[in-house]
Amino acid sequence: MCGIVGYIGNRDCTDVLIDALSKLEYRGYDSAGIAVFEKGTIKVEKCKGKLENLTNLMKIEGRPSGNCGIGHTRWATHGEPSDINSHPHGNKRVSIVHNGIIENYRELKEFLSKEGYAFESETDTEVVAKLLDYYYNNDPIDTIIKVLADIEGAYSLGIIFRDFPEHIYAVRKDSPLIVGLGEDENFIASDVPAILKYTRNYYLLNQDEICDITRTDVKICNVRRQTVKKEVQTANWDIDAAEKNGYEHFMLKEIHEQPSAVKMTVSPRIKNGLPDLSETGLTPEKLSAYNHIFIVACGTAMHAGMVGKYVIEKLARVGVTVDIASEFRYRDPLICENDLLVVISQSGETADTKAALELGKERGADTLAVVNVVGSSIAREADMVLYTNAGPEISVASTKAYSVQIAAMYLFAFELALVKEKISEDECREYVQALSDVPDLIEKTLETKELCQMAASKLLSSNSLLYIGRGLDYALSMEGSLKLKEISYIHSESYAAGELKHGTISLIEDQMPVIAVVTQKELLDKTVNNIKEVKSRHAMVVLVMSESVKIEDGVADFIIPIPETKEVLMPCIAAVPLQLIAYYTSVLKGNDVDQPRNLAKSVTVE
Ligand code: F6R
Repeated sequence: MCGIVGYIGNRDCTDVLIDALSKLEYRGYDSAGIAVFEKGTIKVEKCKGKLENLTNLMKIEGRPSGNCGIGHTRWATHGEPSDINSHPHGNKRVSIVHNGIIENYRELKEFLSKEGYAFESETDTEVVAKLLDYYYNNDPIDTIIKVLADIEGAYSLGIIFRDFPEHIYAVRKDSPLIVGLGEDENFIASDVPAILKYTRNYYLLNQDEICDITRTDVKICNVRRQTVKKEVQTANWDIDAAEKNGYEHFMLKEIHEQPSAVKMTVSPRIKNGLPDLSETGLTPEKLSAYNHIFIVACGTAMHAGMVGKYVIEKLARVGVTVDIASEFRYRDPLICENDLLVVISQSGETADTKAALELGKERGADTLAVVNVVGSSIAREADMVLYTNAGPEISVASTKAYSVQIAAMYLFAFELALVKEKISEDECREYVQALSDVPDLIEKTLETKELCQMAASKLLSSNSLLYIGRGLDYALSMEGSLKLKEISYIHSESYAAGELKHGTISLIEDQMPVIAVVTQKELLDKTVNNIKEVKSRHAMVVLVMSESVKIEDGVADFIIPIPETKEVLMPCIAAVPLQLIAYYTSVLKGNDVDQPRNLAKSVTVE
């Protein structure tokens, strides 16, 4: 969602802000703006649309020239995308950028209106700007503390005051913010890619910590004005990881990074041929004590959880409930001590997943976070963390994050099955070996690229299609369908193949595409029967199937054969053509693949 940046140093601030904002474009946004100190005044430039619109606007209005300022990309929540609603907000005395939602903005607006403030925008953010002005007493930290006492909700804020042109102030609660540490220059940003060109060192801010940043110093305190000491974090990936490196889109690059990403997730967790998750704090004693496992996440991460459920239940014989995070938090779930709550999140900042984690903790369950972004809120709040080590994922449509999430689920399932004595050590070694071989198989599966492109070309004229599969193939179909929807804007549904006859098959009409996934041989005949049912109603069937499967001619219109491994591991392989089909459909439709409409990479609001 919204991206925040700030810069103070010797460089041209406008250049740095625009460059840093461009590195946050992946988060999704619909307007952009900057505020820069210029000759003692705060100069603001902002407008609806992409950064290009902002740079064009500055060509007309003049670009602010200075060495200190803040910038923002806005993903609209309160008020449509418009010039007026764009950030920064404020007046001559104070200017702010905000990520998050101020929940009590209505009552604050009413209060401030009575105090004589007039509002221009429909945003919740403007209330914070006016409140800062209202409390302003020539002591920025004191002013900010007073505002924090009044506002409720989630926020990260970058703030500048006209009277303090050599300072940027920043604070966060439930929305991410880091402070980048350079030489004679410092930064604020929502995420590491924004600052990587300038520095790899940064501070992670905790809840309600307030920073006073100058070009040579960063002072941090809490709301009682007590000094907070921080450890410097160092980003362990370089700038190339956040660049396209010759690929047309980040999504394609990230699809190709899956072999190495899975390797990075799996290899460090194998000791003597067996899974070893001890680094997370998951001891055999703990594992053997869990009665039930809840897996909670959103979107693609939830689909990875679905794969986890099948595999854990099959191998470890422990009951697993998978929940959508936004439902879990409101359904009064039967989670308690002796249960394990696994939350899965690429960003580690998803508001609903974070709330689910908090609920699980409140109820006394142990919590394990499977997270990609190091130091993210969810990683910090969970009792135990399993980092997926995939490096930055920039494309909004998640691909490599999904693969590493399911790889993490396999490691967890193997270890649990071993501890619960449902598989022998030898069997466990076999599974681990097969998982270690998965990266090579993904590499081989990438060779289906052209077939996937051809399959994609057959979907272009459709308004709607179905994905079907059984068991693990159904879990995978859900992800295939989501991927297609989000970037091609073609409607699709995923169905358990056996469920079609209970209503959905009435949708099938001449040449409607049905993408069927068949990797589970035990279910082969049954799924093939379901495929025949749609085929005989003139559906156009694209079949993604294990290469050794033999099916009669005429069952499918188009077949994408994929390499094989143990059946439980097939989602790692079969995910690739589904991602590629979605990717090429989006490309062929001329869509913005990496930043699909209406979507944000990290959903930090409910
Ligand atoms: C889809 C996608 C989303 C995310 C979901 C959760 O491609 O990326 O469905 O999976 O918003 O995000 P994280 O994993 O950051 O919690």
